[in-house]
Amino acid sequence: MATSPFLRVLSLLLLLLPASLQAYLPAASNRRPASNHHGVDDELHPIVLVPGGSCSDLEARLTEAYRPSIPRCGAMKGKGWFGLWHNASDLAARDYVPCFMEQMSLVYDPDANEYRNFPGVETRVLNFGSSTGFHSNPLHPEWCFGQLRPELERLGYVDGETLFGAPYDLRRVPPIPGQPSRVYSRYFRQLTSLIEHASSITKKKKVILFGHSQGGMVALEFLRAAAPQAWQRKYIKHLVLVSPLPASAGFVLPVMGFVSGSGLLDVPTATPLSLRPMWRTFESALFGFPSPAVFTTKPVVITRRRNYTASARDMEDLLADVGAGDAVEPFRRRRRRLPPRSAAVVPVTCVNGVGTDTPEQMAYWEGDFDAAPEVVYGDGDGTINLASMLAFDEEMTRRPGQYKTIKLRGASHGSLLAAEWSLKRVIQEVLIEATNRV
Ligand SMILES: *[C@@H]1O[C@H](CO)[C@@H](O)[C@H](O)[C@H]1NC(C)=O
Ligand SMILES: *[C@@H]1O[C@H](CO)[C@@H](O)[C@H](O)[C@H]1NC(C)=O
Repeated sequence: MATSPFLRVLSLLLLLLPASLQAYLPAASNRRPASNHHGVDDELHPIVLVPGGSCSDLEARLTEAYRPSIPRCGAMKGKGWFGLWHNASDLAARDYVPCFMEQMSLVYDPDANEYRNFPGVETRVLNFGSSTGFHSNPLHPEWCFGQLRPELERLGYVDGETLFGAPYDLRRVPPIPGQPSRVYSRYFRQLTSLIEHASSITKKKKVILFGHSQGGMVALEFLRAAAPQAWQRKYIKHLVLVSPLPASAGFVLPVMGFVSGSGLLDVPTATPLSLRPMWRTFESALFGFPSPAVFTTKPVVITRRRNYTASARDMEDLLADVGAGDAVEPFRRRRRRLPPRSAAVVPVTCVNGVGTDTPEQMAYWEGDFDAAPEVVYGDGDGTINLASMLAFDEEMTRRPGQYKTIKLRGASHGSLLAAEWSLKRVIQEVLIEATNRV
């Protein structure tokens, strides 16, 4: 097979890099993964990929305690594990969407300040550890590292040897300090073991942790919440974040997703509005609301009757006014002033797209939150506002550990890891860190 233009460019790039990297050229053009035993990729630091929000397959099991609101939704009761968020086309084909919405739903437990599954539904994330087991969308094969992973493999990376994946429960977000989360405690323990394993089978090499979008936020929170600084220094070579969701700055799109419904879970035949009742139960739906420290002046939501700024009070009113009063308490608890937490001390590279219209304000003129809003756009990557990226940069610069930030003009949130030019740029950054140039 002929070498693709992409690989030719990469080959040129490799010539500019140190001698150790040039060894990859034959391996890369043969498109044959190099084995650890032949020395070619002995130099590669292992990579653990933490994917974007829609990329983790979920299985469910219905117990006797499950009381379906539509009788046919109980058909799988007592029949073991089945794919719940696995094949979205199949949900539509089997007319399972209403059942899917109920069985995916979370229920907030105010006493424990923790989110639980719908009663009688057990869930688990599939394929933890593997870089090849992410959710696939036949219409968007490029999503969920569909293009990044094969390129890494052409450069010598091998799933299970030097390349790993860490999917998570997309409905939940890492807890704030003091908040219990059995799901995330377990996930962070698994991720710790995976990283230690990746290091131990590669002659104690440090690991590159690579997070995309929601996965970027999860990877960073993992270091902050669950990885002591000495452990970080021992095991993590570099944290690469591509379009990470900014936790403290927030951004405007989550408000639109909460009010009008989110398209993150792309289910054929279902609209964001029709999936909205499910979406609003997710802990991740309340995550990332814009912070008043960054979104200071302009109202985020406009109606004829009143405007809502990013202030905590306005956002709480908005939640109640759109009919989600239940969400006010968990929102308030997530927003309260947090004790200082430990920092990610490892070197970080962050890549964002800019120059794409990104929602900044939504007008629901008649106060009808089921109607499509009139949207005012500003700069960003189509999802994350530029102001949020800059606030994130500032936050990362203040912590110990070197920080490099790259803005790719014209790359959008969805296309950054799919378009050849921007993917190439990201792989350059990864290669600089993945090879032993300390
Ligand atoms: C997903 O479901 C659709 C509809 O039932 C089916 O045609 C398709 O083969 C399934 N895809 C996979 C990968 O199982
Ligand atoms: C809401 O904000 C818009 C834009 O900033 C402004 O023109 C309008 O007067 C405000 N409306 C109310 C009711 O405060």
